[in-house]
Amino acid sequence: MEDRGEGGEPAAGLHFVGTKEDLIKAKRSFRTLEGRDILVLYHQEIFYALDFHCYHAGGPLQNGDIEEFDGKLCIVCPKHKYKISLAEGEGIYRATNPYAPVPTKRWYSKGIKQRVHTVTETDGDVYVTLSHMSRFIESDYFQGEKGKVERERM
Ligand code: FES
Repeated sequence: MEDRGEGGEPAAGLHFVGTKEDLIKAKRSFRTLEGRDILVLYHQEIFYALDFHCYHAGGPLQNGDIEEFDGKLCIVCPKHKYKISLAEGEGIYRATNPYAPVPTKRWYSKGIKQRVHTVTETDGDVYVTLSHMSRFIESDYFQGEKGKVERERM
C-alpha cells in the first residue's frame, strides 16, 4: 500500500494500511510493507501490528485465537500453540519448575520473540511504522530468504 502523509505526500517510514473503518471490519489484515509481511489486527478497540509469521517455525498468525495469559493479551499461533503477547511480542509459556519446594505451574517469559510495529491513526486512516530495533528478533528469520524457503517446506 502507498504511504500517505500530509497533503497526500508520502511520509517517511509511515505506511498507510487502510481506513480505520475497513480495518475494524476486517479485524485482521495482511500487509507487505518494505518487503516485510505484517499482520494488522484490531482487538478490544486497539490496533496491533506484528510480524505475520510466527517466530517458532514461521506459521501464519492470522487465524490465531486471542486470549489473556498472565495478564497479557496474546495471540496463540495455530500451528503449535505458542503464545505471543500482542503489545510486546513476548513469548510466554506455562511450566513447572521441578526444583521448586512445591512444584506448581506458573508463567515464564522467553523475552521478545516476535517483532511488533507501531500503529497510529489520523483522521480515520491507519498507519504502521515498522520497528527498526536493531537487534535480531527471532521472527526476523522468517522474513528473510532462508526463512521463506523453510516456511514453504512446512
Ligand atoms: Fe507458531 Fe510453531 S509455528 S507455534
